[in-house]
Amino acid sequence: MKRLDGKTALITGAARGIGLAFAKAYVAEGAKVAIADIDSARAHQAAADLGPAAIAVEMDVTRQESIDMAVRETVSQLGQIDILINNAAIFSAAPVVEIDRADFARVFDINVAGTLFTLQAVARHMIERGGGGKIINMASQAGRRGEPLVAVYCASKAAIISLTQSAALNLIEHGINVNAIAPGVVDGEHWDGVDAFFAKYEKKAPGQKKKEVGEAVPFGRMGTAEDLTGMAVFLASEDANYILAQTYNVDGGQWMS
Ligand SMILES: NC(=O)c1ccc[n+]([C@@H]2O[C@H](COP(=O)([O-])OP(=O)(O)OC[C@H]3O[C@@H](n4cnc5c(N)ncnc54)[C@H](O)[C@@H]3O)[C@@H](O)[C@H]2O)c1
Repeated sequence: MKRLDGKTALITGAARGIGLAFAKAYVAEGAKVAIADIDSARAHQAAADLGPAAIAVEMDVTRQESIDMAVRETVSQLGQIDILINNAAIFSAAPVVEIDRADFARVFDINVAGTLFTLQAVARHMIERGGGGKIINMASQAGRRGEPLVAVYCASKAAIISLTQSAALNLIEHGINVNAIAPGVVDGEHWDGVDAFFAKYEKKAPGQKKKEVGEAVPFGRMGTAEDLTGMAVFLASEDANYILAQTYNVDGGQWMS
């Protein structure tokens, strides 16, 4: 018996990186998975690579009709949604005096509103079905404290920690557990972009910031997407039925709380 046998998951931003690692881990644990992403071509490729337990769903978490369509399509193709991972997000960095209003709006639209309204659409489905469910939001160590050049992204992830708490308290009466994962620094395409921001603003050579952050992790290296999958499987499993409103650090010892 696998830990997610018979379960169905919708994972946003799953065409690459951490979301894709979650999709692979869920399939390995017996679940069916909808890989939902704005990058439709890559989502389709990822689903094809994963085999018959995975489908691709085109989804832009900033558009309500796209959220509703993705939920409908997942339910129609896979029968139900037992697990949601709100994983889609973007990074942004700038000195405070250079923060641009349009960039702020874009980050909050994807990271915060995208998470909230996807959670809402899936919670409505779970309530209507009556079988409860598990919702996991992707926070970050960036949501635990500020950073001089990362005000907007940090604030968006702090909002995720808060939304997780409120949604959890509101939805547990329907048997829906809402929790969050706060990764530290996870190598991959996302961090290639982060490294480029710091190369620009801190005048570092490409790759320098990555090297520094990896060395600063108490565990001794940056995380990998696979380092996070154990927590994502656990929080989606029956073992986590009595857990709600929590944000778990999976960060090699970076943050202690
Ligand atoms: N990589 C890290 O170091 C790190 C650290 C802490 C938290 N996180 C969080 O983990 C999650 C995954 O990070 P990652 O490193 O895999 O990022 P990533 O940039 O590699 O992947 C993000 C995915 O989201 C998709 N996406 C972007 N905008 C979208 C939209 N509007 N609608 C639907 N999909 C959209 C992208 O196409 C991409 O496939 C994010 O929430 C991120 O903030 C990452």
